[in-house]
Amino acid sequence: MYMNIAIDGPAGAGKSTIARRVAKELGYLYVDTGAMYRAIALFLLRSGVDLSDEDAVSKQVKDCHVSLRYREGQQEVLLNGEDVSGLIRTEEVGNAASASSIYPKVRDQLTCLQRELAAQENLVMDGRDIGTTVLPHASLKIYLTASAKTRALRRAKEYEAQGKAFDLEQIQRDIEERDDRDMHRKISPLAQAKDAVRIDSSQMSIDQVVERILQLAEEEI
Ligand code: C5P
Repeated sequence: MYMNIAIDGPAGAGKSTIARRVAKELGYLYVDTGAMYRAIALFLLRSGVDLSDEDAVSKQVKDCHVSLRYREGQQEVLLNGEDVSGLIRTEEVGNAASASSIYPKVRDQLTCLQRELAAQENLVMDGRDIGTTVLPHASLKIYLTASAKTRALRRAKEYEAQGKAFDLEQIQRDIEERDDRDMHRKISPLAQAKDAVRIDSSQMSIDQVVERILQLAEEEI
C-alpha cells in the first residue's frame, strides 16, 4: 500500500505551494489535479466549443488525452502529447476549468488517471474532490482553507510582484464566484471529507502549515 495524502480546498488557499513542499520533504510525488482540469479546459477553449453545452463538451473530450510527466520532480502536464504546463496558468483557463469540470465525462477521465497514479506511488495529491471522491481511503486528508479576503489579498500580492495591474474587489468577487461554482456543482463538489483535518491558513504562514501537515503525516507513517 502506498501512502497517499489528499489536500483539498478552495482556489487560492495555498494548496499547490504547500502540497509541493510537503511532497518534497517526504520524498513523495506531487500531483496537481487542477493542472489536469486546466489542460482539458485549454483543449476546449482551443476547440471553440460552447462550455455551457454539456453534449458538445462531452463529445469533444473524447479526443482529449491528458497525461503527466515528471522531470527532476517537477510535474508537466501533457495534452495529446504537447507540454502545456506553461499555457494553463491564466485566469481564462482557470475559469474555463471551473466551468467544464462540472461534467461527468470530464471528471471521469481525470478521476481514472488520478487513481492509477495513486495506486503506483507515495504521493501528495491536491484538488477539490481528492479526499471525498478520488481517494476516499487516503492515508491522510487535509482540507486547507482561508477566508476569501485573505485569498484575494494573496493573489493581489502575486500580481503586484509580477508588475500586473489588479482590482482587489474584483479578485475577491472572482474567488467567491469560483468557490460557489465548485461547492455547488452536482458531481464531486468541493467539500471537506468527514475524516479530513481542517486547516485554516488565514493566520498561518506557509511554513507553519507545512509543519502541521508533516506532523500529521508522521503519525500515519
Ligand atoms: O486548483 P486550480 O485552480 O488549478 O483548479 C482549476 C479548476 O479545476 C477548479 O476551479 C475546479 O473547478 C477544477 N478542479 C476540480 N477538481 C479537482 C481539481 C480542480 O474540479 N480535483
